[in-house]
Amino acid sequence: MMTNTNIYPIFDRMLARQDKEELLGQHSVMIWFTGLSGSGKSTIAIALERELHKRGLLCRILDGDNIRSGINNNLGFTETDRVENIRRIAEVSKLFIDAGVITIAAFISPNNDIREMAATIIGEEDFLEIYVSTPIEECERRDVKGLYAKARKGEITNFTGISAPFEAPDHPALMLDTSILSLEESVNKLLALILPRIQKK
Ligand code: ADX
Repeated sequence: MMTNTNIYPIFDRMLARQDKEELLGQHSVMIWFTGLSGSGKSTIAIALERELHKRGLLCRILDGDNIRSGINNNLGFTETDRVENIRRIAEVSKLFIDAGVITIAAFISPNNDIREMAATIIGEEDFLEIYVSTPIEECERRDVKGLYAKARKGEITNFTGISAPFEAPDHPALMLDTSILSLEESVNKLLALILPRIQKK
């Protein structure tokens, strides 16, 4: 790793998060979805963003396929690359949260270590872990992107749930199984959890 000599951060002279939060009339928070590919993370994130936006709350979604075609387009799916993927996403999320924006991340983030790293970078107190716990049978049945079929045929290696591990979180703030809950039910549960934290009194 490079040492950061000759670097003089100016954080102490910049406006603070609180100034941004006051401007926007909201408290920022990190809403971190974890779950298998095809579990419904992005769908729920998009529906949640719409509901919050309607209430005058400013959000930003960070999503696997978007981030991996931009800032993280040099990363694959080895353990090392997944760690770097999530590390960068957490650092970017921190910038949004610091700008007062409600930040919604939808990444597989397949194990406790990776999610803990994200929580540590972002700050535990701002980090809400939401486990989209849709069973793999259902994700594979949907196979929206056709990736499970490819993984079964060995055309994709290190595929989460098939040829790479997924470790469920131990104490998520909320669990949403989209094989049982409708999209509206999932979003309502999220709103009940989040609104009290982000609305300014
Ligand atoms: S993470 O494990 O590093 O958090 P991330 O959420 O960014 O993954 O990307 C997951 C998406 O990449 C999946 O929804 C899927 O569309 C695609 N993908 C391609 N190859 C793989 C793979 N080997 N394992 C999991 N997802 C993959």
